[in-house]
Amino acid sequence: MRFDVCAHTYEEHAGPQRFFAELVAGFIGAKPPETVVEFGAGTGALTRWLESEFVHATDASPAMVKRGCLAVPNAQWSVLDAFSQSPPVASLQISSGLLHWAEDPVVTLFRWKQSLAPGGRMIHAIPCEPCLTEWRALVPESPVPWRGEAEWLSLFESAGLRVARSQRWTHQVVCASALELVHGFHRTGVTGRVRVGPGRLRQALRRYEALHSVAGGVQATWAWLAVEARRWD
Ligand SMILES: C[S@@+](CC[C@H](N)C(=O)[O-])C[C@H]1O[C@@H](n2cnc3c(N)ncnc32)[C@H](O)[C@@H]1O
Repeated sequence: MRFDVCAHTYEEHAGPQRFFAELVAGFIGAKPPETVVEFGAGTGALTRWLESEFVHATDASPAMVKRGCLAVPNAQWSVLDAFSQSPPVASLQISSGLLHWAEDPVVTLFRWKQSLAPGGRMIHAIPCEPCLTEWRALVPESPVPWRGEAEWLSLFESAGLRVARSQRWTHQVVCASALELVHGFHRTGVTGRVRVGPGRLRQALRRYEALHSVAGGVQATWAWLAVEARRWD
């Protein structure tokens, strides 16, 4: 992932992430005086839909935090690596588009659970199957493993959490071209671990155009899953 170096182009190319962030905010329905901590807040796509003065928004990327701070100044912002540092204690923990980057989501969720206040809850949202299925059929190499809803729910349970509810959304996005779609991946910073040679990339782009052209460009399926979980104790 290259989020820190792509912070300046993230917002412009993160249309699907923003679309889902609004839905996730509706799913959260946070009510003050919950103390809310957000992980991987980026430029504040989710933060801006909440009562932001009650939100401690964090991100591992200093460049993202700088931009988030300008976009949603009422929230409290700080740099925090949610995969390696201890998060502050909160009664509500939230994120959108972060957990799927964890090397081992069960270990990460187990750690996050330790910083939930008694009676607290967490709501984490992640892209899930069938997100970007059209592209992945042509280029299976991916910087993250792709999981379906049932698998994600079982990972939460394996971390010793009780899943209270979940919701999955799908969204069809039209991009001007297959190349634009791939530029979007690069400019939001989600690429980096995987390298595909130029010949294969050109072939995949041609194939994508042949298979998924619609009026106005090419179509891509996006899917997002929000999960609310609580401690058992
Ligand atoms: C796909 S973006 C999502 C940003 C925002 N939540 C949104 O919905 O637009 C993922 C964010 O997670 C951040 N991130 C990646 N690894 C992280 C980590 N270990 N701890 C905290 N944030 C991290 C990135 O810097 C990036 O801002």
